[in-house]
Amino acid sequence: MYGFTSLLLLGSCAFQSVLGRPDVSRARRDGVLLQRAVNDFIATEEKIAIEQLLCNIGSGGCNSQGVSSGLVIASPSKSEPDYFYTWTRDAALVFKAVVERFANEYDGSLQTEIANYIISQAKLQTVSNPSGDLSDGRGLGEAKYHVDGSAFTDGWGRPQRDGPALRAITLIGYSKWLVANGYTSTATSLVWPVIRNDLTYVAQYWNQTGFDLWEEVNGSSFFTTIAQHRALIEGSALAKTLGTSCSACDAIAPQVLCFLQTFWSPSSGYTLANTNVNNGRSAKDANVILGSIHNFDPSLGCDAATFQPCSDRALASHKVVVDSFRSIYTINSGIAAGSPVAVGRYPEDTYYNGNPWYLNTLAAAEQLYDALYVWQSSGSITVTATSLAFFKALVPSVTAGTYASSSDTYTTIYNAVFLYADGFVDKVSQYAQTNGSLAEQYDRNNGSPLSARDLTWSYASFLTAAARRAGVVPAGWAGTNPAATSVPGTCFATSQAGSYTTATVTAFPTGQTPSGNQTTTNTFTTPTATTSRASTTTGSCPQVSAVSVSFTVKKVTTYGQTVKIVGNVDKLGNWDTSKAVALSASQYTSSNPVWSGSISLSTGQAIQYKYIVVNTDGSVTWEADPNRAYSVAASGCESTATKTDVWQ
Ligand SMILES: *[C@@H]1O[C@H](CO)[C@@H](O)[C@H](O)[C@H]1NC(C)=O
Ligand SMILES: *[C@@H]1O[C@H](CO)[C@@H](O)[C@H](O)[C@H]1NC(C)=O
Ligand SMILES: *[C@@H]1O[C@H](CO)[C@@H](O)[C@H](O)[C@H]1NC(C)=O
Ligand SMILES: *[C@@H]1O[C@H](CO)[C@@H](O)[C@H](O)[C@H]1NC(C)=O
Repeated sequence: MYGFTSLLLLGSCAFQSVLGRPDVSRARRDGVLLQRAVNDFIATEEKIAIEQLLCNIGSGGCNSQGVSSGLVIASPSKSEPDYFYTWTRDAALVFKAVVERFANEYDGSLQTEIANYIISQAKLQTVSNPSGDLSDGRGLGEAKYHVDGSAFTDGWGRPQRDGPALRAITLIGYSKWLVANGYTSTATSLVWPVIRNDLTYVAQYWNQTGFDLWEEVNGSSFFTTIAQHRALIEGSALAKTLGTSCSACDAIAPQVLCFLQTFWSPSSGYTLANTNVNNGRSAKDANVILGSIHNFDPSLGCDAATFQPCSDRALASHKVVVDSFRSIYTINSGIAAGSPVAVGRYPEDTYYNGNPWYLNTLAAAEQLYDALYVWQSSGSITVTATSLAFFKALVPSVTAGTYASSSDTYTTIYNAVFLYADGFVDKVSQYAQTNGSLAEQYDRNNGSPLSARDLTWSYASFLTAAARRAGVVPAGWAGTNPAATSVPGTCFATSQAGSYTTATVTAFPTGQTPSGNQTTTNTFTTPTATTSRASTTTGSCPQVSAVSVSFTVKKVTTYGQTVKIVGNVDKLGNWDTSKAVALSASQYTSSNPVWSGSISLSTGQAIQYKYIVVNTDGSVTWEADPNRAYSVAASGCESTATKTDVWQ
């Protein structure tokens, strides 16, 4: 691993030797200043990005009041626009970044978030919704849910078939970490059942149209298809690692890869974002940049069949997409060709009048950092007829060919691309809110933040772009499976129907730290092992396996009424009001009308609950929706906790 800083400064012999030559020294000096400005921005923004991202995750996130444990809100914005929902795609991409960060450096609190996310997704898979339900898998294609995990039943662009694929990829990422650290049985018993449903969905429905990532186009989306291919390949490999198999993955993956090739248009010279649709658009869309970065596998080099970030197809498309915004946004006017600009979704966009998005501008940078990494590790840059225009815009004298890292041309191209990439991050720095908040969009005319504030996906995009710039790349997905890159000669419209099963995950074992390999593998045979680990210690304190949670609710009652608590676990009656737990009014006063009681819950347990009032005649009055959520920390030494509520 190396930082990209090194090459530019390694080229500092070059830097010093050109100081005497005014024609190039200016550009080089600007480059060093830009690099410093971007270094500074990243150093400040990184902390803000991770904090704000975590704020948007329930139930403890600072902007996530009322959000169920593990669910990611798209944004705290509740009106104009109302993004206070959880989207399967956004949540998967956010946790993809979280898992990557966690795998790169162990962090127990991130691990708790990941566990809560997996628990929440297992539950979400079972929620019947307008797309369908789990019985035939159709419900998995639903785009968004309420923040309490219930179905969103109004009209929407559905189904969206990228969600299950992306969620599988994210969960596979965490499973690989578990396996690598000796916790294979946790991956097998708790995570795999969730992944398996999503893979089954992909294999069954990949060849049907659906709505794209922007929720507008009903057709076939490059972004969706490329994620589906990766999910099937990576899913098959994980299945083998876990001692099982995914035969649908093996049967269907080659066909998805075959279909993926059809998005590349040799006559247009770029990747078409959407096909199987006739909507009059140019099909130029940041969809293809996002598809490429989320399919990055450093071991695949610049493979074009999988549209790797440094492939000629992906670089050609990068140029076409970025250029499509040059002349249409006022804030991009007067910027020379080949210089970075603000990047939106697609040129015909009219949402909020069509503006640049932070996450697309960061994706444009990330693709280039990915490319730099591969060039640097492979020791050469190849310019083809397909990618020539991309390179010529940055280095006008370049011609098609392969340039070894020892050559001057390599250094020139490398530095130009690095500068170009930094320039996109610099746009984000320039147009971010002054306190570091990243909204969804920034105004095409004056650059001010627009639409939903503190978009979770914007922060995730920042974190991965910053990691790539520092030379931190994700684990690959292709492994040694030839089907990862080998395109069948003929494409078939096949699919494979599968069966779906409810994945029940209520808690993860505690103490699954990176030390796993030094002890034993397969320590846990069942998830219930959680409760038998009371004496395990990590750090300096004895870990508890159960926590006595004291629930207190303020509710004015009349004589004869009793306040009880009911919820989705046995201890709370499984929503059966006759089995609800009565609270005590021993502390009740007219100025502080509180009812309270303690309930023992397991570490890591996530519950939903509500308070009810039971009247003398036995009739029940429920609190208003939504359900309340509470999660016990997945690890810790405190054996008691309190939750204070006000009747809703
Ligand atoms: C850790 O253990 C697993 C399972 O035994 C093994 O596959 C993996 O290679 C080990 N990882 C390291 C870093 O030793
Ligand atoms: C289904 O697959 C066939 C063969 O690749 C392809 O021609 C067709 O466009 C696909 N349709 C959809 C909706 O994916
Ligand atoms: C999406 O397009 C398909 C045809 O490809 C059509 O059958 C389906 O009804 C469309 N869905 C919506 C919601 O318009
Ligand atoms: C930045 O300020 C806005 C109010 O303008 C606020 O909503 C947001 O939380 C702040 N962001 C940070 C990172 O402090």
